[in-house]
Amino acid sequence: MGFFMGNLDTVQKAQKINCNFKGKDILSLDQFSPEDLEILFSLTRKMKIMESKGKTSDILAKKMLTLIFYEPSSRTFGSFCAAIKKLGGQTVEIQNPTQVSSVAKGETLEDTIRVFEAYSDAIIIRHPIAGTAKAASDAAFFIPIINAGDGTGEHPTQALLDLFTIKEQFHALKNLTVLFAGDMLNGRTVHSVLRGLSLFKGNSVYLLSPPSLRLTRADFTMFSQRGLKLIEINHESQIPKEVHVWYWTRVQKERFSDLKEYEKLKNTFTVTKKLLEKYANKNMILMHPLPRVGEIDREVDKDPRALYFRSEIRNGMYTRMALLALVLGKIS
Ligand code: NCD
Repeated sequence: MGFFMGNLDTVQKAQKINCNFKGKDILSLDQFSPEDLEILFSLTRKMKIMESKGKTSDILAKKMLTLIFYEPSSRTFGSFCAAIKKLGGQTVEIQNPTQVSSVAKGETLEDTIRVFEAYSDAIIIRHPIAGTAKAASDAAFFIPIINAGDGTGEHPTQALLDLFTIKEQFHALKNLTVLFAGDMLNGRTVHSVLRGLSLFKGNSVYLLSPPSLRLTRADFTMFSQRGLKLIEINHESQIPKEVHVWYWTRVQKERFSDLKEYEKLKNTFTVTKKLLEKYANKNMILMHPLPRVGEIDREVDKDPRALYFRSEIRNGMYTRMALLALVLGKIS
């Protein structure tokens, strides 16, 4: 507790200068300013130090959070649970509600949210349909809703941990060149990270995907108008050496109505040792939100530039600890 007083100061200060966290829904990266991200990342760093020193905190004591996940999840579900429990909070965990809850009997999303709202201080929701986190937030009367991935829409907390990881490496989120590869159309993590990068000046983004998995033209225009320099490419040979971050993604099988089409596209772009040797510089980092299903060769894992196992996973927990402390932390 003693150690945590420092963190509490940060939380208190955050609440004074900025109320973009306290009691707020977390639905989209669009709700944050660069200053908000700095507040969050500064607390994330403190969470990381607290963990490394084996210290604990009870900032979420007496808080009950419901996790309701209509889609499969390992890291997001696991790291939210761990984050809550490490801060002294408790959870109601509903995975696969269409099988195990009254959703199976036909209960609507709105009613389901109102039910769990009665037991909880916040609801963390993942759903296959874009816009559902917002619908849940409209249904909830009193408590914050946190979007843990809504279909092809957004995945704000994944983007927060990714941006934190990039910042840890390059000490800034501006003037970066970032390559996204894989499924730009359906990848919600890409949609949220792009929103984050568009908050900062001087960022250039290469987008490597099969033509049918490009960003929608509406998104392409929207990000360009925000000042992101977007360059669409369709072959690895077009990756420039100066890229700081390779952000690889899985082709999102569950979004395809025609699985033959998925089979054709799934391994269009694969990271191998050879590809890194040829097109990556020695200071770049390789990221992936995971799961990977063949698009990063396992021998690449040993490369010190590959951060998906080295830091993204743990950073996911620290970032979520910080976020929950800011949204729900009880400060007297
Ligand atoms: C991502 C997701 O669910 O959008 N996974 C995750 O949360 N780390 C990426 C993916 O499933 O491809």
